[in-house]
Amino acid sequence: MLVLKGVGLHDECAFYMRGKEIMIDMKDIVALCKRRGFIFAASDIYGGLNGFWDFGPLGVELKNNLRDQWWKSMVITPPLGLDGKPVQIVGLDSAIIQNPKAWIASGHVGGFSDPMVDCRETKKRYRADQIIVLVPKDTEGSWLAFEEGTDELLKRKKMVKFWGSNILNTATLLTKFDISDYDKIIAPDAKKAGTLTEPRQFNLMLDTYPGVVRDDAHKAYLRPETAQGIFLNFKNVVDSSRVRIPFGIAQIGKAFRNEVTPRNFIFRSREFEQMEMEWFCEPDEAKKWHEFWIEERKNWWRSMGLTSDNILMRPHDADELAHYAKEGLGTYDVEYKFPFTDPGFGELEGIAHRCDFDLKAHQEHSGQKLEYFDQPNNKRFIPHVIEPAAGLTRGVLALICEAYTIDETRPSGCYLNFLPALAPKKAAILPLTAKDEHVPIAQKLYMELREEFPVDLDIKQNIGKRYARQDEIGTPYCFTIDNDTLSDSTVTVRDRNTMKQERINLDNVAKYLREKIKPVS
Ligand code: GAP
Repeated sequence: MLVLKGVGLHDECAFYMRGKEIMIDMKDIVALCKRRGFIFAASDIYGGLNGFWDFGPLGVELKNNLRDQWWKSMVITPPLGLDGKPVQIVGLDSAIIQNPKAWIASGHVGGFSDPMVDCRETKKRYRADQIIVLVPKDTEGSWLAFEEGTDELLKRKKMVKFWGSNILNTATLLTKFDISDYDKIIAPDAKKAGTLTEPRQFNLMLDTYPGVVRDDAHKAYLRPETAQGIFLNFKNVVDSSRVRIPFGIAQIGKAFRNEVTPRNFIFRSREFEQMEMEWFCEPDEAKKWHEFWIEERKNWWRSMGLTSDNILMRPHDADELAHYAKEGLGTYDVEYKFPFTDPGFGELEGIAHRCDFDLKAHQEHSGQKLEYFDQPNNKRFIPHVIEPAAGLTRGVLALICEAYTIDETRPSGCYLNFLPALAPKKAAILPLTAKDEHVPIAQKLYMELREEFPVDLDIKQNIGKRYARQDEIGTPYCFTIDNDTLSDSTVTVRDRNTMKQERINLDNVAKYLREKIKPVS
């Protein structure tokens, strides 16, 4: 299986194998997202804007469902902790723009950067870890000749390893991947190797100027992570609520990064959403809480319907660690096998031990004490922090990729196999014909169900086309009102995955849905 490229706004598609036999084309997933109203390019009518995406009517529902599941699992019904009792986590919604001093303290202004390289051939700029490394060996292990200007060269491109963001010069790259020659490194869409510049650091912060003066003294930043808003409010939350260590503060919201090369549809964008929780604990308890959250978070993603084969837990190498995680117990990533990373995996969430890095930095820079006072033991200390930091938009992409199921036997050719609890619409009500006898019953059922479930009432078009639409948007159940309904008050229920149909009593439809749409546990 060969992945040539990811899917960006204007990129080529990537193919991958789901199971053994079926080849999935990422371009089909992107097309379905647009056709059915999940995800559109931002400013579509103007040709889009690289790295920005809009969520359509169904995309926003799916995103909200995933968001709500996360919030529930963190804030409403947080997990049972190490002592078997529910842990304490409170919510927060902090401003996107904070005092710029906060980003100096957090290390983002000085250190939040990616290495980038320029290609003299394509005249484009790339993130250094997205450069294709040519591996010019054939199956016998001999080095292949470099045939300039032929299709052969393109065929031999393999994205075998990424140029890690920690690797700052070509010499290290060559050594690390055992490549003897700089001429073997090539930009993703270049024909000739050896035309890349040495990597330079590029800061990812997007800036803005609140107020009327536009000079450096008035520059502020759009947050690159939601986490800092939590650290900035640590004291406010401790002083205003009854939380006691260990406890967490959770936040969901937009984050912005001026990514060098946004790519792979919504996987890496410049505006995205995060779901982050900062868990404050005693320094010598950090290890066990780190292990606790690693396990919790892996299980949570599985409970969202991502199958175990497509989920991987990966510890960061020491040289991959972010500036705030260098001193501690490291970071574990929850990774998912996306179509464009297959057979590799892409990050969904990082579970980092941030030590006391952030609170200490904000204490130093703000001059405000950010210690925690442990009354029973009469001691003051700066807590250590374990941080499960997940991507909401990236999670939505994982849900869509996981759900995308090819089935050539049905008119739609595919369906989205979402967990019922996450599906944007739980059911569709379809009068078999738009005749007067069927429609009022459908309308009545719709009015009843909509109080409890997001349901679709779809009246016009032939029934096959309406089923096809519901399959493509992942609606688990369709209820059809037909002539039998008039005589015996039953409706047909069609199951999205099996396409099997059964008849149930009209009065039992709500009960049926209640049983089927179980909350995710
Ligand atoms: N507070 C820690 C932090 O922000 P991160 O690993 O940089 O850590 C957390 O980001 C998650 O946010 C990632 O695992 C990913 O899911 C998501 N994320 C990061 N950059 C992203 C981007 N450019 N586009 C979409 N999602 C992104």
